[in-house]
Order: sequence, then structure tokens, then C-alpha cells
Amino acid sequence: MSATRPDLAPPVPGTSPALRCEGVTRRFGDVVAVDGVDLTVPAASFTALLGPSGCGKTTLLRIVAGLERADAGTVTLEGRTVDGPDGVVAPERRGVGLVFQEHALFPHLDVAANVAFGLRDVPRPARARRVAEVLELVGLGGLERRRPGALSGGQRQRVALARALAPAPTLLLLDEPFSSLDAALRVTLRDEVRLILKEARQTALLVTHDQEEALSVAEQVGVMFDGRLHQVADPATLYREPATPEVAAFIGDADVLPGTRAGQYLVDTPLGRLRTAAPVAASEVAVVVRPEAVRLRATADGRGEVHARTYFGRDQLVGVRLPDGTRVRARRGPELDLRRGDRVDVTVEGPAVTFPAPSPTAASTAVPPTR
Ligand SMILES: Nc1ncnc2c1ncn2[C@@H]1O[C@H](COP(=O)(O)OP(=O)(O)OP(=O)(O)O)[C@@H](O)[C@H]1O
Ligand SMILES: [Mg+2]
Repeated sequence: MSATRPDLAPPVPGTSPALRCEGVTRRFGDVVAVDGVDLTVPAASFTALLGPSGCGKTTLLRIVAGLERADAGTVTLEGRTVDGPDGVVAPERRGVGLVFQEHALFPHLDVAANVAFGLRDVPRPARARRVAEVLELVGLGGLERRRPGALSGGQRQRVALARALAPAPTLLLLDEPFSSLDAALRVTLRDEVRLILKEARQTALLVTHDQEEALSVAEQVGVMFDGRLHQVADPATLYREPATPEVAAFIGDADVLPGTRAGQYLVDTPLGRLRTAAPVAASEVAVVVRPEAVRLRATADGRGEVHARTYFGRDQLVGVRLPDGTRVRARRGPELDLRRGDRVDVTVEGPAVTFPAPSPTAASTAVPPTR
């Protein structure tokens, strides 16, 4: 397959990560769109970059692709610096593939010709073989002669994926590739894409603002806010051991309660004394409590009072108010056994995550208010 990438020596497996970003920074006027990002994507892995709109995900992806220059820092692909103080390598010489939200297919070319587009330098018979191979891989065998206009949205996005996969890029970059699809198709296609990439042993970096998408498809997830990468970890670690209050609040549901250190691994909160996952680092802390960890027991003299309920079918969130006014949510099964006004006992299962309490001036940015 290296014949399809004449500009790059074939990678030596196990020597360098597919991508390494070190201190990558990009400013647009006063906006620091990407702020000192360090990120490593191991070969043959699937990494997702997750964060709210405007946090700099697309800008970072465009820098990796070579469509944008970094103001500072270096980008290395398979050990070769492609953007750094010494210069920049053109996008077409980086060996990266791109899939964007809008499947930018050529409407006048059929499926096979669209996929063959990235293989212009490959001899004709090998090109035809590779086109057939990737179309089979993405489940579009038999649709070679169709024009994009005669395909569904999901099929078009699969053609875009096949086209990007065809040259066997060092790194496949996917920017919100499923967001133009309806919810059901989005879920099906992302699972398919995960399996396709795994089968092809294709290294990929996916950008998304959808946490479920990031956590369900990627082995490694980087969470970004305001241009900064707060944490890079596997999905379970992000959920259980968020590195910052922002990550805790963004990944899954969380209530943040005030707490006071009561021991190395103990903290006093409006919910009582809780165990913590790590040593408590400050006397005043913010305590992250997941609704999944909150247990409710109906009892006439319970300290909490049910004040709200949001029903989702497969589960529900029950809001409870404590005597001091603190509110906390519990996730429960679908049975409607608790009603507004019911008294409940509230306990927390498993260790809690704490962060040093924000100073009063930083409170508005650091920790969301308890709902
Ligand atoms: N060419 C540009 N000129 C000026 N500002 C830009 C430019 N490109 C991006 N920005 C700004 O940089 C910041 C990051 O933008 P970026 O598109 O990378 O965000 P994003 O995380 O991809 O957001 P979304 O999820 O909405 O796609 C934003 O504040 C944006 O307005
Ligand atoms: Mg974007």
C-alpha cells in the first residue's frame, strides 16, 4: 500500500506515534483558538477530541492537516515534523486523510471515480483493485456507478470515508462526520465506522462536541475548553477521574457540592461525610457527585424532599432538596415510585471526586452552580 503514498517512506511500526502535537498554539487576533496543546495519537488507535462549540477542535485538526499554520509548537507525523519553527510540509505531502461534516463529493463523478480521486498517482489496475477493496470495506460494493445525488446521506458519508481511506493515510482526520445525519443513522454509522477503522488498522482522530459519540467510539479522548486540552484519557478514566471541574461537568451529569476536608480521604458535604477517590488537597473543596452514585430510600423522616423529576423512559433523574437548600439529582430505573414532596434518605455510593474550591472571583467560570 505504500505505493499509494509515494511521497512518504513507509512507516516503521512501533517507532513513532502517528501524531504528536507539542505546545501547538494558534491565535486569530485576540482569540487564542488553540493554546499550547500537547497530544499524542498512537499508531492504529482511535482518538477523539471532545469539547463545546468554539473550543478550537477544528482549528487543531486543520493545523494537523496543514490547512492552517501553528503560531507556536510542533506537529509531528510518524516522527517527521510537518509544522514547526523550521518550516511546514504542504497538506498533500503529509499523508493525512480528511472527512468533514458535509460530504464534499464531486456530484458529476460516480462513486468509484470519487473514491479513485485520491489515487491519481496509482497505476490503473491497482487503483481499480483498491477502489473495490475500500468500497467493500465500507459496505458499498455494487454501488460503484451511482452518482452521489442518487445516494442517501449515510451512503454519501460512507463514500467520503472510502475516499479518505483509499490512499491508506498515516492518519485519518474526521471533523464531526456524522452531525448532518439523523440521530438513528448517526449511531449506526459511528459504530460501523469504528469497526471499519479497526479492521483497516487505521489511525484516526475524530473531532466532536457529542460526548456520547466520543466516549463510545474512541479508545482515547482529549477534552478541550477554550483552546486548552484539559485531559487526555480513556473514556472510563475521564468519567471516574476527571482532571478538572470543567471535565467533570462536561462528561456525563454531575452536581457540584461544597465540601470541607475531614481527613485525607474524607470530606464533609451537605450529603454527609463522603469518601474521596484521591487525597483531599485543600480545606475547602468542590465535590463532584454523579446522579448514578446517589441512592434514594423513601422514608417518612428522610432528610431530603423530592422536588423534581425528569423522565427518560429507560431511566429518570429525581431531584432532591436537602434541609440546607442544596439540590442533588439521583438517576433511577423507570419505575415511577417517588413523587414530588416524598421524603427520602440520600446516600452516595463509591468515592467522590474533589477539586480545590474556586476562589470567589473565579467561581463563575470554574464550577457550574448546583442544580
Ligand atoms: N479563520 C478564523 N478567523 C478568526 N477566528 C477564527 C477562525 N477560525 C476559527 N476562529 C475562532 O477560533 C475559535 C475556535 O474555532 P474552531 O472552529 O476551531 O472551534 P470548534 O471547536 O471546531 O467549534 P465547533 O464545535 O462549533 O465546530 C473560535 O472562537 C472561532 O471563532
Ligand atoms: Mg468545528
